[in-house]
Amino acid sequence: MQKPNIYLFPQLSDNYGYLVKLPHAKEAAIVDPSDLEMCEKILDLNDCSLSHILLTHHHDDHTAAVADLKKKYNAKVIGHELDDQLPNIDIPVKANEEISIFNNTYKIISTPGHTMQHICYFNQDYSILFAGDTLFSLGCGRMFEGTPELFWKSLSILKKLPKDTLVYCGHEYTHSNLLFALSIDPKNEDLITYGGWIKKQGSDARPTIPTELRKELNLNPFLRCEDEVFQKIYNSKDPVEVFKKMRLAKDNF
Ligand SMILES: [Fe+2]
Repeated sequence: MQKPNIYLFPQLSDNYGYLVKLPHAKEAAIVDPSDLEMCEKILDLNDCSLSHILLTHHHDDHTAAVADLKKKYNAKVIGHELDDQLPNIDIPVKANEEISIFNNTYKIISTPGHTMQHICYFNQDYSILFAGDTLFSLGCGRMFEGTPELFWKSLSILKKLPKDTLVYCGHEYTHSNLLFALSIDPKNEDLITYGGWIKKQGSDARPTIPTELRKELNLNPFLRCEDEVFQKIYNSKDPVEVFKKMRLAKDNF
């Protein structure tokens, strides 16, 4: 078993795709491909072919390049067995199943909320999480299909992963998430410090992803719905209620 290299690459306006490959390997996997040209470019740059496509959910900005990539490379597509809006799946997966890619094991974590069949892929050996649109740095995905109960439960599962987990999410939303987080947690010195780094990354045209779970547990308001600071603002001790109100506030921010 070898640690995979993960190459982040931009797609569309603010999506990220991830190329996953072992050192010196000639085959790679891509997570959530939507921009065909960028996917081909990253594969060519790494001098490799595409054997697997991992999908977190069915939104077009995570799947648009699947058909063309599959045709060109004959890659196997992995996705939730019950998500009938996904492109054709070759390897259907379900919650808690483990799949092997290049001798690395990935656990399928069911995280309904953004969509009902949203899944995350967790590499337990190296603490790598492909989080799709469930968890972002300082934020979480919009609640398109789920309920606050389901979404909070999903985030609560991710909260229990090892603290050194590196979170590779579907979008570069960190700066706008920062502005919202600061609006409800303005005195948080660690958040202010992280904000300085986020702004520097932005002005240098560098990504803020991956982010470490440890940092998100301390700074991401959507993971801190049990925190007194937010229970006071949203006038409830029930984390589901806090999450519901916080999500709504962010939608209207
Ligand atoms: Fe999405």
